[in-house]
Amino acid sequence: MPGDGIGPEVTQCAAEVLRHVRPDVECTLAPVGAAALAAGLPALPAETKALCDRSDAVLFGSVGLPEYDGLPLAQRPEYALFVLRRDYELYANLRPVRVFPGLEDASSLRPEIVRGLDLIVVRELTGGIYYGRPKEQRTVDGVEEAVDTMIYRAPEIERIARIAFDLARGRRKHVTSVDKQNILETSRLWRRVVTEMSAQYPDVRLEHLLVDNAAMQLVARPGDFDVILTENMFGDILSDEAAILTGSLGTLPSASLGSRGSAGRQFGLYEPIGGTAPDLAGKDVANPTAAILSAAMLLRHSLADDSSAARIERAVDGAYADGLRTADVARSAGAHVSTRAFTQAVLARL
Ligand code: IPM
Ligand code: MG
Repeated sequence: MPGDGIGPEVTQCAAEVLRHVRPDVECTLAPVGAAALAAGLPALPAETKALCDRSDAVLFGSVGLPEYDGLPLAQRPEYALFVLRRDYELYANLRPVRVFPGLEDASSLRPEIVRGLDLIVVRELTGGIYYGRPKEQRTVDGVEEAVDTMIYRAPEIERIARIAFDLARGRRKHVTSVDKQNILETSRLWRRVVTEMSAQYPDVRLEHLLVDNAAMQLVARPGDFDVILTENMFGDILSDEAAILTGSLGTLPSASLGSRGSAGRQFGLYEPIGGTAPDLAGKDVANPTAAILSAAMLLRHSLADDSSAARIERAVDGAYADGLRTADVARSAGAHVSTRAFTQAVLARL
């Protein structure tokens, strides 16, 4: 589902890479977001949804364009994502953040601070303030007001915490749980449930941070983070912050996983975290890395094909190591390559 802005270009690149390593994977294109709205369809057309039902995974571009900003959620392109996450219960959003060797100078932080940075944000994706009810604008006693509801049920916290602890076991065994427990009741429950679960993971170190402090520590000592576990909205905000540590939002993939699927066929939605970047659309300048690495995550998580995923990741690393740079990560005076040229470079290294 290519979607809007740079979505079509980068998804096309990712699909080419995917087909290159796995020619047996059947890919079907479907409209979503503003692209669907412009064709007189809803943001998530019924046919697109039906196609998802028959698919093992969704490779998603991005949705959203400024001209829809004034409309209610249900009429905006983002509604497609909102519904997909909800209807397929894609509660676990994994956002790995890693600095490519040789790209340290692209970060807004000093290279010695970001060198070796390798963390993953585990964001709860189907609860909290995004989905809680009531959620509306209304007029009470002649005064306009609006309400969003932040709500968590303990089982929702448990299942996402389990994902984070399990992931930590395969990494540096450190979970940082982020909340706002000095103010929010949801956070008090969050902290208690996560702490209780940590008893089942004595080998994993658990640290709690308040979200404001976490935002600060992320730029002060990013290398100290391993797995960041947090609720939906904090995760939305912190993952953009974490991503830009690498120098560009254009390099970071994500996976949204739920409980649908069988062994070796975990249904998931895979997308760049960077958004539609409408100012870059159609110019062949966007960085396709996030989309290409999303395809790698798709292979790993939905098709249980670690080796193809690793091949793609090595090819991307190789392209960066050999000095290829799209405009977003180019050294200020350095030459840069186009979206297509970068993709060709990745294909050539496969
Ligand atoms: C993201 C995006 C979405 C979100 C938008 C497009 C609804 O920012 O995936 O991080 O807020 O979750
Ligand atoms: Mg976001």
